[in-house]
Amino acid sequence: YTIEWDAVAAQKGGFDSFMAKEIHEQARAVADTLRGRLEDGALRLDEMDIDPSVLRSIDKIVVVACGTAANAGAVAKYAIEHWCRIPTEVELAHEFRYRDPVVTEKTLVVAISQSGETMDTLMAVRHAREQGAKVIALCNTRGSTIPREADAALYLHVGPEIAVASTKAYLGQIAACYLLGLFLAQVRGNLYPDEIAALMADLEQIPDQIQQVLDSSAQVEQLARDMQDATSVLFLGRHVGYPTAMEGALKLKEIAYIHAEGFAAGELKHGPIALVEEGQPVFVIVPSPNGRHSLHSKVVSNIQEVRARGARTLVIAEEGDDAVLPFADEVIRVPATRTLFAALLTVIPLQIFSCELATAKGLDVDQPRNLAKSVTVE
Ligand code: G6P
Repeated sequence: YTIEWDAVAAQKGGFDSFMAKEIHEQARAVADTLRGRLEDGALRLDEMDIDPSVLRSIDKIVVVACGTAANAGAVAKYAIEHWCRIPTEVELAHEFRYRDPVVTEKTLVVAISQSGETMDTLMAVRHAREQGAKVIALCNTRGSTIPREADAALYLHVGPEIAVASTKAYLGQIAACYLLGLFLAQVRGNLYPDEIAALMADLEQIPDQIQQVLDSSAQVEQLARDMQDATSVLFLGRHVGYPTAMEGALKLKEIAYIHAEGFAAGELKHGPIALVEEGQPVFVIVPSPNGRHSLHSKVVSNIQEVRARGARTLVIAEEGDDAVLPFADEVIRVPATRTLFAALLTVIPLQIFSCELATAKGLDVDQPRNLAKSVTVE
């Protein structure tokens, strides 16, 4: 008698795909990104070998990345500008490289890349260094080219990511951006030590909160199976909910081949609302009602606006946020955290949605057509 042994199935650890497995590893992934980097309430990023005086002298940050990593970079802008008061731009690496960007010795370029091998991002790094900028790489793969060519590197430590569509590395990239932002605020004295300690304490709660989101994935999985014939899905968000909307749309395009677009919710009335007709599914990412009130109420109004035009509203909102109930066809709950840190929670139902929908369609979730894990050509 023989035992059927499938090495690949074994590596998937009981999940249908590597992507599903990696989604479900995200609590540990973020815990691993944060691990060992906080000591007595202060951040220690010793591996990031860069002179603090350099970090004190910079007057501008440019984040360069592609794909999912660029969406992580978009989250970084909100955090770094808020905590450090340093003007921060986020740019697709290939656009940055070929448009003669203003880069000086006082510019810090932050290159985000899971693989560390993306040629577009590498070219942006080389160009920035030629102009005299300092480059910090946020990467997952040790010894890869981008961190080797950068002035300093901060690793994600989320473990190997096999699925082409990035999930746990995205969360690791965002967590690493928060660490970098708080470290800059610490070095430059923008935040008091007790403020940094309080922020880090909340950040350290996030892995448990990620696990809570994962433990309640059945609702989104059912939604995805019910929606496998969808031909167009829109995603709306404000503040860090905007990059989350972009990432939700990217995931759906990448693996489920469904036309999807992410919008800044405030932009709705300037165009995208014309797309909304009866039955159009619209995901809306709602910021915490305990954060800035105007931000929350504006997004609730946006849900109302698309619903009034017939949209099917799929709302991702904090536990206990009842303001969304009158306008939501479906409410997906995430635990309460700071407005900025919600970017590590609200994207998870969107990842699960795409993964489950593509699986239900019988698609190859881990190897989507036309895409590669690491794009080493320009
Ligand atoms: C490719 C992958 C994407 C990824 C992007 C950036 O396009 O298909 O999933 O987000 O590259 O990859 P990087 O390794 O630089 O983060």
